[in-house]
Amino acid sequence: MIERLFPNPAPLPHGALEDEMRAAPASRPRSNAPWLSFNFVASIDGAATVDGRSGQLGNAWDQRLFMLLRHTADVIVVGAQTIRAEGYGGELLGAEAQQWRKDNWLSAHPPLAIVSGSLNLDPDMAVFAQAPVRPLVLTLETAPAQRREALAEVADVVNVGVASLDVERTMAELASRGFRNIHSEGGPTLLGTFAAAGRVDELSLTVSPLLVGGPARRIAHGPTDASQGMVLDRVLKADSMLFLRYVRPTH
Ligand SMILES: NC(=O)c1ccc[n+]([C@@H]2O[C@H](COP(=O)([O-])OP(=O)(O)OC[C@H]3O[C@@H](n4cnc5c(N)ncnc54)[C@H](OP(=O)(O)O)[C@@H]3O)[C@@H](O)[C@H]2O)c1
Repeated sequence: MIERLFPNPAPLPHGALEDEMRAAPASRPRSNAPWLSFNFVASIDGAATVDGRSGQLGNAWDQRLFMLLRHTADVIVVGAQTIRAEGYGGELLGAEAQQWRKDNWLSAHPPLAIVSGSLNLDPDMAVFAQAPVRPLVLTLETAPAQRREALAEVADVVNVGVASLDVERTMAELASRGFRNIHSEGGPTLLGTFAAAGRVDELSLTVSPLLVGGPARRIAHGPTDASQGMVLDRVLKADSMLFLRYVRPTH
């Protein structure tokens, strides 16, 4: 069973969980401004990976919530290293979710936006070859021209920075395509980039009941410290796993 611990404790039977996960945080401004959410899983001791991937940190509940968070996304933003590690080939949502989106005036498939400075991505990768909608690649003006040309065959390749990613330019580029619910599944370098710019509106974090130790990184890292205060918005619990949602404070 999964239950809500905060706010308003209650069990969440089938149907209620779907509604809960698709609802925006109460404090989200009622505006057309783009809203950037991230979703991560970490062990109790803060590891974002086990053996280089996140899969062992999750379970069936985590997987279900991970998928539900995609339902309302206009675009799903993912760092290139996560694509290289996890694959991301094929449809990102099942038939039922696609139907729900169509019933709610959304496109059946949220496109994927891959962030890559190097463009070290093979156009034959499943993420391109099996994509139900043409992906977007967010890159830098300094990216190698030959790779850009090759990827342009399978994706829309656009610049969002000169030598490093410009967060505001990235948000403006996504907003110009009509994307308002901008959802990211990481990874840590990408979260670190947006956290350093103080641009993370919402963070869903699954706390997995594991002690991992070892050299694993945290869910965010980067060259600059970012100390952005966040407000607890929701806590769900299933077995020993916690699902936390934090939002940026409204001023
Ligand atoms: N625990 C979780 O919830 C979770 C979630 C996602 C991923 N992961 C794990 O995290 C690992 C990957 O971590 P990561 O931090 O390396 O991945 P990442 O953030 O997915 O990808 C990093 C890559 O994205 C591009 N990128 C990100 N920020 C950039 C910036 N500011 N400027 C230019 N390019 C930028 C670069 O691509 P190029 O190298 O192509 O230039 C960079 O190497 C994988 O093992 C994955 O399984 C865990």
